[in-house]
Amino acid sequence: MKSGTKLLLTVILIASAAAGALAQNQPANVPRWAAIVRQTALRTHDRGPSGGPTGIFPPVIPAHLRNPDREGAVETYNPGGPTHTASNLFFQSIGTNGRACVTCHEPRSAWGVSTASIQQRFEQSGGTDPIFRLVDGATCDSDDVSTLEARRTAYSLLLSKGLIRIFLPLPDTQLGSSPPAPRDFEIASVTDPYGCTDLSSDPAMVSVYRRPLPSANLRFLTQCPENDPGCAPLAIMWDGREPSLANQAIDATMGHAQAPTAPTPQQVAQIVKFESGIYDAQVDDKWAGHLDREGGNGGPEFLSRQNFFIGINDSLSAGFNNVVFGLYDAWQNLAGSSGKAQARGSIARGEAIFNTRQFTITGVNGLNLTAADPAGPNPVNGFCTTCHDSPNVGNHSLKLALNIGVADPDPAGLDASGLPVFNVHCTAGPLNGQSFTVTDLGRALITGKCADVGKFKGPILRGLAARSPYFHNGTAASLEDVVNFYNQRFSIGLSDQEKADLAAFLNTL
Ligand code: HEC
Ligand code: HEC
Repeated sequence: MKSGTKLLLTVILIASAAAGALAQNQPANVPRWAAIVRQTALRTHDRGPSGGPTGIFPPVIPAHLRNPDREGAVETYNPGGPTHTASNLFFQSIGTNGRACVTCHEPRSAWGVSTASIQQRFEQSGGTDPIFRLVDGATCDSDDVSTLEARRTAYSLLLSKGLIRIFLPLPDTQLGSSPPAPRDFEIASVTDPYGCTDLSSDPAMVSVYRRPLPSANLRFLTQCPENDPGCAPLAIMWDGREPSLANQAIDATMGHAQAPTAPTPQQVAQIVKFESGIYDAQVDDKWAGHLDREGGNGGPEFLSRQNFFIGINDSLSAGFNNVVFGLYDAWQNLAGSSGKAQARGSIARGEAIFNTRQFTITGVNGLNLTAADPAGPNPVNGFCTTCHDSPNVGNHSLKLALNIGVADPDPAGLDASGLPVFNVHCTAGPLNGQSFTVTDLGRALITGKCADVGKFKGPILRGLAARSPYFHNGTAASLEDVVNFYNQRFSIGLSDQEKADLAAFLNTL
């Protein structure tokens, strides 16, 4: 057990190529990382009580469920509802530590979880609510959680940035290579305030800290074009490591909830059916009023009718339409000087900036620097919608992991304090000789490729106001911080009014 004082542990180590003996007695279809994560989760014995509250939700999720949030209200549209939570596994304790899916995916936080909710639950429970569990709620599973003060320290990243610890084995080989090619990078050093990355263990285990993604609007990750039997879902998880929602539900049950055995196919189907059936979006704005009336098309019901299929608007092809959001066209030229009319005008201007403001996108690994052309820089004259190209949803309509710099140790205008820092050397392949300093290796932890260091998916941009903070590592406390980051990162040159308009628009999604 560690005392409340944080140790600054600098490990200088070249990771050993791990044989992964752990993974050997697992069924062949379970990826090696998942098998190791399941067994590691089960080894954390101090699980806390298994009963108790599992999150904040009503007994019934009706067809329309409104929850107030800091900007107005967020709404869940549950067209298959009402759903009785007592008989739906999404809301039940499914493992051994009292956790349910809803523990980290709650309706009032747009089916993610905001730091406001996490902090409230800490104060109400003295840090014993099921979200506060050693396995991945704490900065490390060896943390001291015996007193209230110790728990405040152990759960510091969860309380301050809403982060869950994701522990993954360092891959030995590159994903999809045949014959298997060895991983083409080494972690040369780690500066880890929590001592929770262990490069000398077998397999070497890396701990990074990430925000829960919403478990709603999931059709926009999975719906295939007609007549395309080979189509696979878009990235599920920040690093795209899960092949399907069913697999994701099994891994969440055995990882986060520390269940010793996998849920049955029927149980998995119930979870996936529920989470795939719900839509979620902001529906009320405290200044602009109802977002789904008087010409506005905000809110989840309009979203539920949104046409979508994977690849619907490929921003890198000739047919790309950069006007991705069309929710507030009717508010562009409103008459009147009332506060409400002005707020609506600002939102409409923000939408237009998101769709049409051009800037130069450089230095983005995955877009400007590709494996085929690693030298780059190939600047792209683009928009916010070059990367957020799914109509009225805002995720990337094709599977494409990108490094926009959010995992840098000191990203412009963002707060990366408290995160571990990894120094990564490319030892072969297209980037041989290059180094990256990152707070999270991103997709490289799955693919074993140096070209994927710091890469994450472009996430769905709905229900944002109810689930701050933002980015995979919670480094943006507000949407204003997000806008400031982009303005600096890509030298966009937004005026104060334009920044306010863009943030106002993002708050209505
Ligand atoms: C302890 C908190 C926690 C619990 C409990 C939890 N999740 Fe998550 N969930 C997360 C985190 C963190 C991520 C993102 C992790 C990453 O990308 O590496 C996530 C991601 C997801 C995603 C991916 C969404 C996307 O856009 O890619 C889905 C779906 C999901 N969770 C569903 C579930 C289900 C179903 C359950 C219950 C079986 C569950 N979660 C339990 C924290 C949790
Ligand atoms: C070069 C591609 C690219 C461009 C251009 C881009 N984004 Fe992003 N965006 C991403 C990626 C990738 C992420 C996830 C990054 C992460 O968390 O590491 C993201 C995340 C976000 C998030 C956080 C979502 C969440 O759930 O935390 C918001 C909000 C956002 N972008 C808004 C914008 C706005 C506004 C613009 C234009 C000023 C913009 N983006 C331009 C790629 C891009």
